[in-house]
Amino acid sequence: MDRRNNRGCDGYHMNRNAPRIPIFGPWFRTIVAVAAGGLLLSANPVLAADPSAGSRIYIKHCQDCHGADGKPVFPGAPDFSRGEKLMQPDADLLNAIKNGTGIMPAYQGLYTDEELLDVVAYLRTLR
Ligand code: HEC
Repeated sequence: MDRRNNRGCDGYHMNRNAPRIPIFGPWFRTIVAVAAGGLLLSANPVLAADPSAGSRIYIKHCQDCHGADGKPVFPGAPDFSRGEKLMQPDADLLNAIKNGTGIMPAYQGLYTDEELLDVVAYLRTLR
């Protein structure tokens, strides 16, 4: 038998077997899946504001003036249901809510920035 052919044959078998190296087996995939899932779980509360948490604060503190559906109750308040004042970045809305504006009280100290950003996220759903 030709030695060169044998070598080629061995090389072929080594390649065929490569995916069976244990590190690429089911355990490896499980570890990758768990790591990715853990990343998603830990990243979500930090990155995404939570409008449903914001709605609870809105109902408690904002609804009396701004209305349950964003239609103003208090004279001079913007109509959130028509998107009034919502065409500005979250950071600007956050500042307005933290510092108050005109007759509207300031909410700095009462809630964290994260909680107030939840409220901002909720305001955007009223539109
Ligand atoms: C006492 C009534 C009152 C309460 C309570 C109140 N607001 Fe207001 N809000 C107003 C009025 C009036 C304005 C318009 C003020 C102005 O234009 O000078 C306003 C304006 C705003 C604006 C627009 C700010 C801008 O860029 O001009 C936002 C956003 C807002 N309110 C959010 C909230 C949120 C969120 C809450 C609850 C945490 C809240 N408000 C509570 C009366 C109120």
